[in-house]
Amino acid sequence: MMFDDLVIEINRYLEEQFLHDQARLKHILNVYRVALELGEIFGVDRKKVTIAALMHDSTKKMTFQENYTLARIIYTEKLIHEIPKSCLHAFSAAALAKVKFKILDQEIIDAIAYHCTGRSEMSVLEKVIFVADYIEESRKFVDSEIKESAKTNLDKSVYLIMKETENYLTKHNWPLAKITQKAIEAYESHKEELND
Ligand SMILES: [Fe+2]
Ligand SMILES: [Fe+2]
Repeated sequence: MMFDDLVIEINRYLEEQFLHDQARLKHILNVYRVALELGEIFGVDRKKVTIAALMHDSTKKMTFQENYTLARIIYTEKLIHEIPKSCLHAFSAAALAKVKFKILDQEIIDAIAYHCTGRSEMSVLEKVIFVADYIEESRKFVDSEIKESAKTNLDKSVYLIMKETENYLTKHNWPLAKITQKAIEAYESHKEELND
């Protein structure tokens, strides 16, 4: 499918899914805008950014069972078992992108799948979506250091977001995803990536 047609198809799908959840639709469009801006700064293909951003929360309205069934089409039981329930929608959205919209670019699929947990050794596209999801304007609680570093040091903002997530989860006695933990450890073992 041509890029423009694909974007029309995805937008049509999102409008239908989120007809009664305009806040979610707005969040998706905000993420798309911020991701485009970051993508331009860090030299990421605009088409890849567009598709990954628009698709990232596309399955948010589905039930746990629907999310699970969809995610299982392309991900193993083991992987799904290791991610928190709150991030399952990221993996089902990646599966939806592949199965329904025939998006075969693995970098796009990964950027959708890991937008919630992150992971170590993310591609620049993955980092752009991960950060945009966290800092877009409707998320008012975001630390200004994270917002500032997003445009100059993408790794630093990825790391700070992961640490903030860790603190938040610890405070509520909720477990941190293993892949997020590993990514934090990887960053802490070579901190030079985090210097401005
Ligand atoms: Fe999400
Ligand atoms: Fe999101």
